[in-house]
Amino acid sequence: KNDRESMMIVNSFAQKSFTENLHENSQGIAIGMGYMRERGFRDEIIKKFQVGYCLEGWDAFSNHAQECGFKKEYLVTTGLSIEKENRLLDRFRGRVIFPIHGIAGRVQAFGGRILKNDKKSAKYLNSPESEVYSKSRILYGIFQAKKSIVQNEKCFLVEGYTDVLSFHQAGIENVVASSGTALTADQIRLIKRFTNNITIIYDGDAAGIKASLRGIDLVLEQEVNVKVLLLPQGEDPDSFSRTMGASELMEYIEKNESDFIVFKTNLLLKDAKDDPVKRANLIIEIVHSIAIIPDGIIRAVYVRECSNILNVDERVLYTEINKIIHKVK
Ligand code: CTP
Ligand code: MN
Ligand code: MN
Ligand code: MN
Ligand code: MN
Repeated sequence: KNDRESMMIVNSFAQKSFTENLHENSQGIAIGMGYMRERGFRDEIIKKFQVGYCLEGWDAFSNHAQECGFKKEYLVTTGLSIEKENRLLDRFRGRVIFPIHGIAGRVQAFGGRILKNDKKSAKYLNSPESEVYSKSRILYGIFQAKKSIVQNEKCFLVEGYTDVLSFHQAGIENVVASSGTALTADQIRLIKRFTNNITIIYDGDAAGIKASLRGIDLVLEQEVNVKVLLLPQGEDPDSFSRTMGASELMEYIEKNESDFIVFKTNLLLKDAKDDPVKRANLIIEIVHSIAIIPDGIIRAVYVRECSNILNVDERVLYTEINKIIHKVK
Protein backbone atom coordinates (compact mmCIF):
# COMPACT_ATOMS: atom_id res chain seq x y z
CA LYS A 1 0.00 0.00 0.00
CA ASN A 2 1.50 3.29 -1.11
CA ASP A 3 0.31 6.13 1.11
CA ARG A 4 2.00 8.77 -0.98
CA GLU A 5 0.20 7.76 -4.13
CA SER A 6 -3.15 7.47 -2.32
CA MET A 7 -2.73 10.95 -0.86
CA MET A 8 -2.00 12.42 -4.28
CA ILE A 9 -5.14 10.78 -5.64
CA VAL A 10 -7.19 12.36 -2.86
CA ASN A 11 -5.55 15.74 -3.54
CA SER A 12 -6.37 15.44 -7.21
CA PHE A 13 -9.98 14.63 -6.38
CA ALA A 14 -10.15 17.62 -4.02
CA GLN A 15 -8.70 19.97 -6.61
CA LYS A 16 -11.32 18.94 -9.17
CA SER A 17 -14.08 19.30 -6.62
CA PHE A 18 -12.91 22.78 -5.48
CA THR A 19 -12.46 23.95 -9.08
CA GLU A 20 -15.92 22.69 -9.98
CA ASN A 21 -17.37 24.65 -7.05
CA LEU A 22 -15.80 27.87 -8.29
CA HIS A 23 -17.23 27.51 -11.79
CA GLU A 24 -20.51 25.67 -11.27
CA ASN A 25 -21.80 25.96 -7.70
CA SER A 26 -23.98 29.01 -7.03
CA GLN A 27 -22.17 29.85 -3.77
CA GLY A 28 -18.81 29.25 -5.43
CA ILE A 29 -19.68 31.50 -8.35
CA ALA A 30 -21.12 34.28 -6.21
CA ILE A 31 -18.51 34.30 -3.45
CA GLY A 32 -15.36 32.63 -4.74
CA MET A 33 -15.48 33.71 -8.36
CA GLY A 34 -16.84 37.09 -7.28
CA TYR A 35 -13.74 37.58 -5.15
CA MET A 36 -11.31 36.61 -7.93
CA ARG A 37 -13.08 38.85 -10.45
CA GLU A 38 -13.10 41.76 -8.03
CA ARG A 39 -9.34 41.41 -7.73
CA GLY A 40 -9.10 41.54 -11.48
CA PHE A 41 -8.13 37.96 -12.28
CA ARG A 42 -9.26 36.72 -15.68
CA ASP A 43 -10.80 33.29 -16.34
CA GLU A 44 -7.85 32.13 -18.38
CA ILE A 45 -5.47 32.58 -15.40
CA ILE A 46 -7.97 31.17 -12.90
CA LYS A 47 -8.21 28.03 -15.04
CA LYS A 48 -4.47 27.78 -15.70
CA PHE A 49 -3.79 27.63 -11.95
CA GLN A 50 -6.84 25.47 -11.23
CA VAL A 51 -8.07 27.93 -8.61
CA GLY A 52 -11.05 26.63 -6.65
CA TYR A 53 -13.43 27.29 -3.80
CA CYS A 54 -14.27 25.27 -0.70
CA LEU A 55 -17.90 25.68 0.35
CA GLU A 56 -18.88 27.29 3.63
CA GLY A 57 -20.28 25.20 6.46
CA TRP A 58 -18.30 22.62 8.36
CA ASP A 59 -18.11 19.45 6.33
CA ALA A 60 -19.50 19.77 2.81
CA PHE A 61 -16.24 18.66 1.22
CA SER A 62 -15.45 15.89 3.73
CA ASN A 63 -18.92 14.40 3.29
CA HIS A 64 -18.77 14.60 -0.48
CA ALA A 65 -15.34 12.92 -0.53
CA GLN A 66 -16.54 10.09 1.72
CA GLU A 67 -19.67 9.62 -0.39
CA CYS A 68 -17.36 9.26 -3.36
CA GLY A 69 -15.58 6.43 -1.56
CA PHE A 70 -12.50 8.18 -0.17
CA LYS A 71 -11.36 6.92 3.20
CA LYS A 72 -11.05 9.03 6.31
CA GLU A 73 -7.36 8.16 6.65
CA TYR A 74 -6.20 10.01 3.56
CA LEU A 75 -8.55 12.94 4.04
CA VAL A 76 -6.86 13.45 7.39
CA THR A 77 -3.22 12.82 6.37
CA THR A 78 -3.54 15.24 3.45
CA GLY A 79 -5.01 17.77 5.88
CA LEU A 80 -8.07 18.34 3.73
CA SER A 81 -10.16 17.25 6.69
CA ILE A 82 -9.58 17.79 10.37
CA GLU A 83 -10.77 15.06 12.70
CA LYS A 84 -12.66 16.35 15.71
CA GLU A 85 -14.66 14.16 18.09
CA ASN A 86 -15.15 11.52 15.41
CA ARG A 87 -16.31 14.07 12.85
CA LEU A 88 -14.46 15.28 9.81
CA LEU A 89 -14.38 19.05 9.36
CA ASP A 90 -13.19 20.89 6.24
CA ARG A 91 -9.89 22.67 6.78
CA PHE A 92 -10.47 25.11 3.93
CA ARG A 93 -14.16 25.90 4.41
CA GLY A 94 -15.22 29.21 2.88
CA ARG A 95 -11.84 29.88 1.26
CA VAL A 96 -10.59 30.41 -2.26
CA ILE A 97 -8.21 27.55 -3.03
CA PHE A 98 -4.81 27.74 -4.71
CA PRO A 99 -3.62 24.21 -5.53
CA ILE A 100 0.15 23.81 -5.17
CA HIS A 101 1.57 21.67 -7.95
CA GLY A 102 4.83 19.75 -7.95
CA ILE A 103 7.28 19.92 -10.86
CA ALA A 104 5.34 17.20 -12.69
CA GLY A 105 2.03 19.05 -12.29
CA ARG A 106 0.45 16.89 -9.63
CA VAL A 107 -1.31 18.58 -6.73
CA GLN A 108 0.73 18.23 -3.56
CA ALA A 109 -0.98 20.72 -1.31
CA PHE A 110 -3.35 23.67 -1.13
CA GLY A 111 -3.28 27.25 0.03
CA GLY A 112 -6.65 28.71 1.02
CA ARG A 113 -7.36 32.43 1.22
CA ILE A 114 -9.93 33.84 3.54
CA LEU A 115 -12.33 36.23 1.80
CA LYS A 116 -12.91 38.78 4.48
CA ASN A 117 -9.91 40.37 6.15
CA ASP A 118 -11.27 39.86 9.65
CA LYS A 119 -7.86 39.63 11.37
CA LYS A 120 -9.12 36.83 13.62
CA SER A 121 -8.22 34.02 11.24
CA ALA A 122 -5.01 33.67 9.24
CA LYS A 123 -5.22 35.22 5.79
CA TYR A 124 -3.88 32.03 4.24
CA LEU A 125 -4.18 28.47 5.49
CA ASN A 126 -1.91 25.86 3.94
CA SER A 127 -1.96 22.07 3.90
CA PRO A 128 0.08 20.60 6.75
CA GLU A 129 3.48 19.02 6.18
CA SER A 130 3.03 15.44 5.03
CA GLU A 131 4.53 12.67 2.95
CA VAL A 132 3.46 14.55 -0.16
CA TYR A 133 4.10 18.13 0.96
CA SER A 134 7.14 19.82 2.39
CA LYS A 135 6.71 23.57 2.29
CA SER A 136 10.44 24.26 2.29
CA ARG A 137 10.99 22.12 -0.79
CA ILE A 138 8.30 23.33 -3.11
CA LEU A 139 7.83 26.53 -5.05
CA TYR A 140 4.39 27.72 -5.95
CA GLY A 141 4.02 27.97 -9.71
CA ILE A 142 7.08 25.91 -10.69
CA PHE A 143 5.03 23.60 -12.92
CA GLN A 144 3.45 26.50 -14.81
CA ALA A 145 6.78 28.38 -14.98
CA LYS A 146 9.41 25.80 -15.87
CA LYS A 147 9.15 26.05 -19.64
CA SER A 148 9.36 29.84 -19.58
CA ILE A 149 12.27 29.75 -17.10
CA VAL A 150 14.22 27.61 -19.56
CA GLN A 151 13.27 29.80 -22.52
CA ASN A 152 14.19 33.04 -20.76
CA GLU A 153 17.18 31.62 -18.86
CA LYS A 154 15.90 33.37 -15.80
CA CYS A 155 13.44 33.05 -12.93
CA PHE A 156 11.60 35.73 -10.96
CA LEU A 157 11.09 34.89 -7.30
CA VAL A 158 8.11 36.47 -5.53
CA GLU A 159 6.40 35.94 -2.16
CA GLY A 160 2.85 34.92 -2.83
CA TYR A 161 0.23 33.04 -4.77
CA THR A 162 -1.45 36.11 -6.24
CA ASP A 163 1.91 37.62 -7.23
CA VAL A 164 2.49 34.59 -9.45
CA LEU A 165 -1.00 34.78 -10.97
CA SER A 166 -0.71 38.50 -11.71
CA PHE A 167 2.65 38.11 -13.43
CA HIS A 168 1.24 35.39 -15.67
CA GLN A 169 -1.69 37.65 -16.42
CA ALA A 170 0.80 40.34 -17.46
CA GLY A 171 2.52 37.83 -19.74
CA ILE A 172 5.50 37.07 -17.47
CA GLU A 173 5.46 33.31 -16.92
CA ASN A 174 8.94 32.60 -15.53
CA VAL A 175 7.90 33.28 -11.95
CA VAL A 176 7.64 31.22 -8.76
CA ALA A 177 6.72 32.03 -5.17
CA SER A 178 8.50 30.96 -2.00
CA SER A 179 5.10 31.25 -0.22
CA GLY A 180 6.26 33.79 2.29
CA THR A 181 9.69 35.16 3.07
CA ALA A 182 11.19 31.97 4.54
CA LEU A 183 13.19 31.09 1.41
CA THR A 184 15.23 27.87 1.68
CA ALA A 185 18.31 26.38 0.00
CA ASP A 186 16.15 23.51 -1.30
CA GLN A 187 13.88 25.97 -3.07
CA ILE A 188 16.86 27.62 -4.75
CA ARG A 189 18.19 24.23 -5.83
CA LEU A 190 14.80 23.55 -7.41
CA ILE A 191 15.13 26.72 -9.51
CA LYS A 192 18.73 25.79 -10.32
CA ARG A 193 17.49 22.72 -12.18
CA PHE A 194 16.21 25.16 -14.82
CA THR A 195 18.36 28.30 -14.67
CA ASN A 196 21.33 29.99 -13.01
CA ASN A 197 19.70 33.42 -12.88
CA ILE A 198 17.26 34.58 -10.22
CA THR A 199 15.72 38.00 -9.69
CA ILE A 200 14.12 38.42 -6.28
CA ILE A 201 11.00 40.62 -6.31
CA TYR A 202 9.69 40.57 -2.78
CA ASP A 203 7.10 42.91 -1.28
CA GLY A 204 8.06 46.56 -0.86
CA ASP A 205 7.86 46.50 2.92
CA ALA A 206 10.35 46.03 5.78
CA ALA A 207 9.84 42.26 5.83
CA GLY A 208 10.35 42.02 2.07
CA ILE A 209 13.56 44.05 2.14
CA LYS A 210 14.97 42.03 5.02
CA ALA A 211 14.08 38.80 3.24
CA SER A 212 15.69 40.05 0.01
CA LEU A 213 18.98 40.61 1.84
CA ARG A 214 18.81 37.14 3.35
CA GLY A 215 17.78 35.70 -0.03
CA ILE A 216 20.84 37.20 -1.73
CA ASP A 217 23.22 35.26 0.53
CA LEU A 218 21.22 32.05 0.19
CA VAL A 219 21.20 32.27 -3.60
CA LEU A 220 24.91 33.09 -3.79
CA GLU A 221 25.69 30.04 -1.66
CA GLN A 222 24.06 27.88 -4.34
CA GLU A 223 26.29 29.42 -7.03
CA VAL A 224 23.36 31.10 -8.73
CA ASN A 225 23.43 34.69 -10.01
CA VAL A 226 21.12 37.00 -8.13
CA LYS A 227 19.49 40.31 -8.89
CA VAL A 228 16.93 42.21 -6.85
CA LEU A 229 14.09 44.51 -7.76
CA LEU A 230 12.92 46.76 -4.97
CA LEU A 231 9.26 47.70 -5.38
CA PRO A 232 7.85 51.04 -4.22
CA GLN A 233 6.87 51.10 -0.53
CA GLY A 234 3.61 49.22 0.07
CA GLU A 235 3.47 47.48 -3.30
CA ASP A 236 3.80 43.78 -3.98
CA PRO A 237 4.23 42.22 -7.44
CA ASP A 238 0.46 41.67 -7.69
CA SER A 239 -0.57 45.22 -6.80
CA PHE A 240 2.33 46.77 -8.71
CA SER A 241 1.69 44.86 -11.93
CA ARG A 242 -1.82 46.30 -11.97
CA THR A 243 -0.55 49.88 -12.08
CA MET A 244 0.82 49.44 -15.62
CA GLY A 245 0.45 47.53 -18.86
CA ALA A 246 2.26 44.29 -19.59
CA SER A 247 5.02 45.75 -21.76
CA GLU A 248 5.53 48.66 -19.36
CA LEU A 249 5.96 46.17 -16.51
CA MET A 250 8.63 44.21 -18.37
CA GLU A 251 10.45 47.46 -19.21
CA TYR A 252 10.25 48.60 -15.61
CA ILE A 253 11.74 45.34 -14.38
CA GLU A 254 14.56 45.36 -16.92
CA LYS A 255 15.41 48.94 -16.09
CA ASN A 256 15.18 48.70 -12.31
CA GLU A 257 16.39 45.24 -11.36
CA SER A 258 19.86 45.55 -9.98
CA ASP A 259 22.82 43.40 -9.29
CA PHE A 260 22.93 42.34 -5.64
CA ILE A 261 25.95 44.57 -4.94
CA VAL A 262 24.21 47.64 -6.29
CA PHE A 263 21.04 46.77 -4.38
CA LYS A 264 22.84 46.23 -1.09
CA THR A 265 25.02 49.30 -1.54
CA ASN A 266 22.13 51.63 -2.31
CA LEU A 267 20.11 50.28 0.55
CA LEU A 268 22.91 50.58 3.09
CA LEU A 269 24.16 53.91 1.73
CA LYS A 270 20.76 55.47 2.34
CA ASP A 271 21.27 54.65 5.98
CA ALA A 272 25.01 55.31 6.23
CA LYS A 273 25.18 58.67 4.41
CA ASP A 274 28.60 60.16 5.25
CA ASP A 275 29.12 58.46 8.58
CA PRO A 276 32.54 56.76 8.24
CA VAL A 277 31.79 53.99 10.74
CA LYS A 278 28.53 53.12 8.99
CA ARG A 279 30.26 53.21 5.62
CA ALA A 280 32.89 50.81 6.88
CA ASN A 281 30.19 48.47 8.15
CA LEU A 282 28.51 48.68 4.78
CA ILE A 283 31.70 47.53 3.06
CA ILE A 284 32.08 44.67 5.53
CA GLU A 285 28.46 43.63 4.95
CA ILE A 286 28.94 43.52 1.17
CA VAL A 287 32.28 41.77 1.43
CA HIS A 288 30.49 39.19 3.57
CA SER A 289 28.09 38.43 0.69
CA ILE A 290 30.92 38.24 -1.85
CA ALA A 291 32.81 35.82 0.40
CA ILE A 292 29.85 33.43 0.23
CA ILE A 293 30.31 32.92 -3.53
CA PRO A 294 32.04 29.54 -3.90
CA ASP A 295 33.65 30.23 -7.29
CA GLY A 296 36.87 32.30 -7.14
CA ILE A 297 36.55 33.78 -10.62
CA ILE A 298 32.99 34.97 -10.05
CA ARG A 299 34.13 36.36 -6.73
CA ALA A 300 36.84 38.34 -8.51
CA VAL A 301 34.29 39.91 -10.86
CA TYR A 302 32.26 41.11 -7.88
CA VAL A 303 35.33 42.37 -6.04
CA ARG A 304 36.11 44.54 -9.06
CA GLU A 305 32.53 45.86 -9.14
CA CYS A 306 32.46 46.51 -5.41
CA SER A 307 35.81 48.29 -5.58
CA ASN A 308 34.46 50.59 -8.32
CA ILE A 309 31.14 51.39 -6.69
CA LEU A 310 32.49 52.06 -3.21
CA ASN A 311 35.86 53.40 -4.28
CA VAL A 312 37.80 50.96 -2.11
CA ASP A 313 41.06 49.34 -3.16
CA GLU A 314 40.60 45.75 -4.38
CA ARG A 315 43.47 44.57 -2.18
CA VAL A 316 41.68 45.81 0.91
CA LEU A 317 38.57 43.89 -0.12
CA TYR A 318 40.57 40.72 -0.74
CA THR A 319 42.19 40.94 2.67
CA GLU A 320 38.74 41.05 4.30
CA ILE A 321 37.32 38.31 2.07
CA ASN A 322 40.22 35.99 2.85
CA LYS A 323 39.72 36.55 6.56
CA ILE A 324 36.07 35.51 6.26
CA ILE A 325 36.83 32.49 4.08
CA HIS A 326 39.47 31.28 6.54
CA LYS A 327 37.09 31.67 9.45
CA VAL A 328 34.42 29.57 7.71
CA LYS A 329 36.67 26.79 6.35
N1 CTP B 1 1.40 33.25 3.69
C1 CTP B 1 0.94 32.13 4.40
N2 CTP B 1 0.20 32.30 5.53
C2 CTP B 1 -0.11 33.55 5.98
C3 CTP B 1 0.35 34.67 5.28
C4 CTP B 1 1.09 34.49 4.14
O1 CTP B 1 1.20 31.01 4.00
N3 CTP B 1 -0.86 33.67 7.08
C5 CTP B 1 2.18 33.03 2.46
C6 CTP B 1 1.26 32.91 1.26
O2 CTP B 1 1.84 32.01 0.35
C7 CTP B 1 1.24 34.32 0.72
C8 CTP B 1 2.68 34.75 0.97
O3 CTP B 1 3.02 34.15 2.20
O4 CTP B 1 0.87 34.34 -0.64
C9 CTP B 1 2.93 36.24 1.02
O5 CTP B 1 2.18 36.82 2.07
P1 CTP B 1 1.50 38.25 1.94
O6 CTP B 1 2.39 39.19 1.20
O7 CTP B 1 1.06 38.63 3.28
O8 CTP B 1 0.19 37.90 1.11
P2 CTP B 1 -0.13 38.15 -0.44
O9 CTP B 1 0.50 37.05 -1.23
O10 CTP B 1 0.17 39.54 -0.83
O11 CTP B 1 -1.70 37.85 -0.42
P3 CTP B 1 -2.93 38.76 -0.91
O12 CTP B 1 -2.50 39.57 -2.07
O13 CTP B 1 -3.97 37.74 -1.25
O14 CTP B 1 -3.34 39.59 0.26
MN1 MN C 1 4.46 40.06 2.25
MN1 MN D 1 2.19 40.39 -0.60
MN1 MN E 1 -0.80 40.84 -2.26
MN1 MN F 1 25.10 39.02 5.50
